[in-house]
Amino acid sequence: MISPKLYRSSHVYDFFMKSLGYQTSIDRFLRSVSVDCPGDAKILDAGCGTGLMGLHFADRFADSTLVATDLEANFLQATLANAKTRGVDKTRISVGTSDISDPTKMTTLDGEVRTLAAESFDVVCVGAVIGYASDTAESLRKLLSLVAPGGMLLNLEMNESFTGKFVSRRYHYDNIPISQMQQVITDAGFQLNVKKFGLRHLPAKFTRTALVARKPLND
Ligand SMILES: C[S@@+](CC[C@H](N)C(=O)[O-])C[C@H]1O[C@@H](n2cnc3c(N)ncnc32)[C@H](O)[C@@H]1O
Repeated sequence: MISPKLYRSSHVYDFFMKSLGYQTSIDRFLRSVSVDCPGDAKILDAGCGTGLMGLHFADRFADSTLVATDLEANFLQATLANAKTRGVDKTRISVGTSDISDPTKMTTLDGEVRTLAAESFDVVCVGAVIGYASDTAESLRKLLSLVAPGGMLLNLEMNESFTGKFVSRRYHYDNIPISQMQQVITDAGFQLNVKKFGLRHLPAKFTRTALVARKPLND
């Protein structure tokens, strides 16, 4: 578990994500990812931060429901505030604290401990967070276990460019190589596509790359 000091203020994080154009460029990138899931899709955003990934999909699928988790409760409040701004009804959102070391467990703001069922989410989003797990590969395996057949895990991971490494160091983000993540994903039986961000996805392109893992339907 990382020092909470790094993410003490969700307001500061939210301000920079918006004012530097990060949120817009990530949103633009997410629009380019085709998602084949039911209108009432179940979405998980683990380590949601200000909710930009999960809220994108909740916005896109009008009857979907979103579970958003983060280690820090202040980020859950920021996600709910951003949902309001984006017009996503809060009745479609459940939030809870969770350590990415075991993303299958969450504690609601009322203190109820919940276990997320295996293969219960059509879309599992995660971005720049599994490097905070005590065992990154195991965290990734647990996230993959939550994906329903025909569903998708989308990891907007810190990339291995100079800027990606610089920002990772600044935020004490200690990750396994992306090649190792690819191995974990394919070993779990998923089809993987690694998508680089284009120039139109600046500034997110400086630090992020996308791992799009699709789980085949059962025979
Ligand atoms: C770099 S932000 C990423 C936020 C968002 N996923 C995104 O793509 O922009 C990292 C987030 O991970 C959360 N975090 C840090 N350590 C965590 C942990 N051990 N378990 C769950 N979340 C954690 C932080 O509170 C913060 O909201």
